[in-house]
Amino acid sequence: MNKILVTGGCGYIGSHTLVDLIDHGFDVISVDNLCNATEKSLDGIYKINGKRVKNYQVDLTNERELAHVFSENKDIIGVIHFAALKAVGESVEKPLLYYKNNLIGLLNILDNMARFSIPNLIFSSSCSVYGNTSVLPVTELTLKQEAESPYGRTKQMGEDILMDLAKTDSQIATILLRYFNPAGAHESAFIGESPANPASNLVPVITEAAANKRPPLTVFGTDYPTRDGSCIRDYIHVMDLANAHTLALQYLLENKKEEKCTVFNLGIGKGVSVLEALSAFEQETKVKAPFILGERRPGDVVEIYADFHKAAEKLGWEPKRSIGDIMRTAWEWEKVKNQ
Ligand code: NAD
Ligand code: WQD
Repeated sequence: MNKILVTGGCGYIGSHTLVDLIDHGFDVISVDNLCNATEKSLDGIYKINGKRVKNYQVDLTNERELAHVFSENKDIIGVIHFAALKAVGESVEKPLLYYKNNLIGLLNILDNMARFSIPNLIFSSSCSVYGNTSVLPVTELTLKQEAESPYGRTKQMGEDILMDLAKTDSQIATILLRYFNPAGAHESAFIGESPANPASNLVPVITEAAANKRPPLTVFGTDYPTRDGSCIRDYIHVMDLANAHTLALQYLLENKKEEKCTVFNLGIGKGVSVLEALSAFEQETKVKAPFILGERRPGDVVEIYADFHKAAEKLGWEPKRSIGDIMRTAWEWEKVKNQ
């Protein structure tokens, strides 16, 4: 009786989290319409732990089909809601697609949770809710600034919906996990990041450039007021992130929660610059990723990294992997990902 519904389970963070949940004895099912993933990730999970995860290829915005998934699985005790569109640039071009997909999807999940009396929800939020903040490190109490994109706004609005719900007599307890910059892959290289759309995040761009699958990458800006002039981010290994979901779920199930809606930052608490990330890649893999120095990318935050003490204290979570581990596992995945 410990079935967890994972939305977006075929995607990047969802598939790694499925591995960690299975390793910790949870029974899992996935709902993923495969708009940015394939079920190959489920084959990878099978190779890792011998468990075949069932995916319902259902769009969360389709009320009737989603209700069918819940009615077929009346023993679900919690939902981890990853499924969302996440391309920042695309969200500027197609804001309505993002509002519809990310918000209607969430509302339909909440309707079904109420209808089937499912009391536990974990929501994928993002450091993008903080906008262009200048307070560092960012704690959960750092004031949110205006979001830099419609995507970021869907995360702010999703959080607002869940915080409003927590003020009612709803039986749903929620944890909002604000991820910083997830990267890397499972040690086995059986799963990793393989989006349907071309990669634009730094780590996959580095590995693809190193594998000559794309031209040299551009370092976006070298004149920022940072130690080497390039932007600073908090890169968190996807398996550390995955484990935080298991711990958050256990926290809800063991009734340790002090509030109906609790927020946690998930980052390693240290900033790494773009140029430092490139050196870490070279040092770890002994391969050079070709790059050129270029102009700033509009909308980029200069520097952001997390204070994760709250997650450490309440969830007992601690990131165990370094930027070197991120680069090594991302590179191992790069070498096999399209085979
Ligand atoms: P992903 O695209 O790899 O996974 C999301 C999955 O959801 C995909 O497999 C996609 O097919 C599915 N999906 C999207 N819309 C759907 C819908 N309407 N119905 C059913 N399935 C749908 O992305 P990810 O990197 O694994 O991100 C997971 C979550 O974490 C997202 O909510 C994202 O916004 C959030 N997040 C990601 C990052 C990051 O950098 N990867 C950072 C912060 C937050
Ligand atoms: C990281 C750094 C770039 C590519 C995004 C979303 C955010 C969250 C995490 C979902 C920046 C630099 C990058 C390149 C570069 N996602 N860079 N050359 O922008 O911090 O955050 O992913 O919630 O909402 O905005 O991540 O990986 O794109 O960039 O120099 O080719 O790498 O300028 O400093 P970002 P990123």
